[in-house]
Amino acid sequence: MDMIASSASGLSSLPPKTGIGLKPQHYDAILDPDHPSGRPFWVEVHPQNYFGVSDSIGAGPPHRWLSAISAILPVSFHSVGLSLGSAEGLNNGDLERLAALCERYNPAMVSDHLSFSGNAHDRFADLLPVPYTKESLNHFALQVDRVQRRLGRQMLIENPSCYLAYRDSQMSETEFLAELIHRTGCGLLLDINNIVVTTGNLGGAAEEYLSAIDPDWVGEIHLAGHATEQHDSGPLYIDDHGSAVSERVWQLYAHFIQRAGPKPTLIEWDTDVPDYATLMAEVAKADAVLMEASHAFA
Ligand SMILES: [Fe+2]
Repeated sequence: MDMIASSASGLSSLPPKTGIGLKPQHYDAILDPDHPSGRPFWVEVHPQNYFGVSDSIGAGPPHRWLSAISAILPVSFHSVGLSLGSAEGLNNGDLERLAALCERYNPAMVSDHLSFSGNAHDRFADLLPVPYTKESLNHFALQVDRVQRRLGRQMLIENPSCYLAYRDSQMSETEFLAELIHRTGCGLLLDINNIVVTTGNLGGAAEEYLSAIDPDWVGEIHLAGHATEQHDSGPLYIDDHGSAVSERVWQLYAHFIQRAGPKPTLIEWDTDVPDYATLMAEVAKADAVLMEASHAFA
């Protein structure tokens, strides 16, 4: 396949600092230059939240807020709906809507997931894992290539949180990601909480997973909290983004950053969203880790 090539370095135009997912309840605080809790270095939005606001892109309060915030902070577009793993291929209308938004806002980064959400015509709310086979790798790489060509830029693909594995898989998730990155020139959005959830549910060691990650692949990191349910069969880890980042995730993050150097890092807190000060306290924790690494890598 003749795909977009990119250099291994310089994956990200986001600053190697900490950002937050943009929530309406924090708009005013972010725009306040004198807010006592300060400002994140960048924000992330789900572009699908802006698809339905107006057919002629640009109208409506969500766009007015995003325009104001994107004028002062870099914005990352974290897509949750391309469904790159759908057997029918991604929906062309969705790709065109994403392209139009990228043209308007010129985001610092564009990403989606190593997953599928139904088919090109019907959607599930979930990000479901794909089998790690040569056939699905060929298909997924074609979809990533299609997006990158249409947008004229590199995208990042996020490792999923998994609750099941396919018997037919022929390779590990990290082997699949390595080959995908090699073939398409895409980068990795490394979600460390997802690694904890996946290895907790399916077995395996998070440390081993992370040791297979080449830092040069990584254009962005996600940190989040998860829930744990106790069942007779053992604990079930649920990627709910509804609490502070767990100690386990902080430890793995610090260890990875010590090896990789500073990387753009997002605090993902999407349900039971806390007040701005609580969220910014998480930002400060991540920034302390990044600051320490920036001295070591200077
Ligand atoms: Fe994530």
